[in-house]
Amino acid sequence: MDQYMCLLLHPDSARDFLVKNGDNFLNRPIIYTNQVLSHNFSGLSQARDKRWEATRNTFSSLSTNVLLRKKTYYVEEKIKETINHFANHQIGNKIKSWKFTKPLIMNIFYEYFQISEPFEQTMVDPECWELIEGLFDFVSKAQGKPLLNSNVFGLFIGLYHKLSDLKILKKSYSVIKKKLVDPHMDSIDRNAPRDTIDELILLNESYPKEQQFEHNVIAPIFDFLNAGLNSTSILMEWFLLIMANHPEVQEKIYEELSTINKSFISTKNRYKDTPYLNSVINEVIRYRLGTSTAPRETKEDIEIGGIFIPKGSRVAILTSSIFMDEDYWENPQQFIADRFIGEPKGHMERLLLYSVGKRQCVGKNLANDINYLFCSNMILNFKIKSSTNTIIDDTPIFKLNSLPISHKIILEKR
Ligand code: HEM
Repeated sequence: MDQYMCLLLHPDSARDFLVKNGDNFLNRPIIYTNQVLSHNFSGLSQARDKRWEATRNTFSSLSTNVLLRKKTYYVEEKIKETINHFANHQIGNKIKSWKFTKPLIMNIFYEYFQISEPFEQTMVDPECWELIEGLFDFVSKAQGKPLLNSNVFGLFIGLYHKLSDLKILKKSYSVIKKKLVDPHMDSIDRNAPRDTIDELILLNESYPKEQQFEHNVIAPIFDFLNAGLNSTSILMEWFLLIMANHPEVQEKIYEELSTINKSFISTKNRYKDTPYLNSVINEVIRYRLGTSTAPRETKEDIEIGGIFIPKGSRVAILTSSIFMDEDYWENPQQFIADRFIGEPKGHMERLLLYSVGKRQCVGKNLANDINYLFCSNMILNFKIKSSTNTIIDDTPIFKLNSLPISHKIILEKR
């Protein structure tokens, strides 16, 4: 059977498809490799139909659950620890930024799902590293390899899975179970779920007994960590790289932050106090974060705007095209720090980084919080410089994400 792929190149068509006709595009396509790796579409990011809906609903508690909202406090604490760590141990060192951003994000995620006291450990919890390594293995095997989408590779992975019990996932699964799920299981009150993990445990109990606990409870948490870790870290890496190349922009951000007159910038400052920084962050996203959103599959034949899309087609938003389209942006190839000041009409609607509609990124608010706190407090405390005193090559490498070329930066204390 012919397989069609429909790439959405206009923000309006992205909304026509994924919002107005969203119910027809809720599923991910069946890719055999993903089917095997997601244990037959369990978890969240590859789940389909009713299974996806039920699991996704449990994650809605992320933005509504009071306990979790309170955890913004922990996010801020983790950022403070990182800034202190940089100030005390990393000044003048040549730094690969991902070596710090990834553990920071993983620590924040852990806190988010913890029910006990927050970690005493700062920066790099050894088990946290173990989990990161597991995820690295997994993602690096998947990054940018078209073969992975083929059935041939899927069969190979399937065989490997049978022989090895999918070792790449096993390590991460066991850390998630031990660190996050077991403490919930030990203290859950079935009449008063405390957070997303409690809700996943209850959801699992509503399924037939023979269905596996790890597929229903651990796989969605794994998906959450996996989907959030690299994407958020890469955004922060791009911010640091672009700042190293634009010291004049750093100074303007610093000037703006100085008027707040605080030793720590919090998420509360975002909307009223820092229009210039907000514009810079949006411009970093537009300038270097565009790729393609995760594909969806058409449930039924449909015609939208005179275009016929057969059932089973794949649909994705090509953000790399929208973010660089001359019809939408003046000089799109240039980094223009104040492009978003006052959020000129249409600019934010075109910044579809997290996709749109019911299946848009579930971690969008958390990613925005982490990113804002990190960027603002880094500039408040440090000058960011290239380790070679030359402009860092900012050509993106397109894989699953748009990655910066390997580089190092240096921090100087303000
Ligand atoms: C800059 C950071 C991030 C970017 C650019 C990003 C982008 C995306 C995109 C484009 C999708 C596909 C949405 C769709 O199909 O319409 C997605 C899905 C998802 N994201 Fe994110 N994301 C980010 C951060 C996060 C974070 C921090 C988390 C969790 C902590 C997260 C968890 C997820 C999950 C679980 C899905 C699958 C949702 C589903 O299939 O229902 N993401 N993300």
